[in-house]
Amino acid sequence: MARPLVIAIDGPAAAGKGTLAKQLAAHYSLPYLDTGLLYRAVGRKAAAQGLDLDDPQAMEPLARDLDTGDIDEGALRGREAGELASRVAAHEGVRRALTAFQRDFADRPTGALLDGRDIGTVICPNADVKIFVVASAEVRARRRTDELNAKGRAVVYETILEEVRQRDDRDSNRAVAPLKPAEDAHLLDTSELSIEGVFREACRLIDAHIQT
Ligand code: DC
Repeated sequence: MARPLVIAIDGPAAAGKGTLAKQLAAHYSLPYLDTGLLYRAVGRKAAAQGLDLDDPQAMEPLARDLDTGDIDEGALRGREAGELASRVAAHEGVRRALTAFQRDFADRPTGALLDGRDIGTVICPNADVKIFVVASAEVRARRRTDELNAKGRAVVYETILEEVRQRDDRDSNRAVAPLKPAEDAHLLDTSELSIEGVFREACRLIDAHIQT
C-alpha cells in the first residue's frame, strides 16, 4: 500500500493558504485540519471569559481543555478572532497543549493535510511535502479588502494593510514557533498568480514528490 501522504501548508495571514489547502485536500482525498481554528477558539474562549490574553498561566488551561464543541467555524472566521488567536498563539504553553491533537491528526493512516504557521517546522517536521505560501503584504491586504467588500463589509484598504503588517510582525517575531519556512519547504509566491494558478503549481510540487 502507498505510504500515507502528509502535506504541510504554512504562511502568513491572508496569503491564500486556506483556499489552497481546501482544494488540495479535496484533490488528494486527505483529511484537512485548519490549525488556525484551534488558536482562534482559544482566543475567543479567553475573550468570552474576560481573561487576560497576555497571561500565559490563564491561557494554557483553555488550550488544554479545548474540545470540538469549541470549534465553531462560523463564529471563528472573523478578523477579530484572528487577532485574538495571534495573541494567545504566542504562549509556549498554549502551543504545547495543542500539539498532540495536531500530531494525532497528521498521524492517521489516511495521511492528512494541515495548514498553519508551524506545521512544517514544529508539528510535522517529517511531512512529505511542505509548502510555504507567500505574497506581499500589499497584495494580501488588497485581496482581503476585496473579499470583505464583496461580503458587504465597508473596510478600508489602509486599515487592513496595517492589520496584516501587525499580524505578520507578531507571528514572525514571537519566541516560540515563529512563522518561518522550514528549510525543506517549497516557497510558493502567490502575488502574481490566480487561485487556479496557485493550485496548479502546488499540485506540480506534490505530484513530483509522489512520483519519486
Ligand atoms: O491561519 P489563521 O489566520 O486562522 O491563524 C490565526 C492566528 O493563529 C495566526 O495569526 C497565528 C496563529 N496560528 C499559529 O500561531 N499557528 C498555527 N499553526 C496556526 C495559527
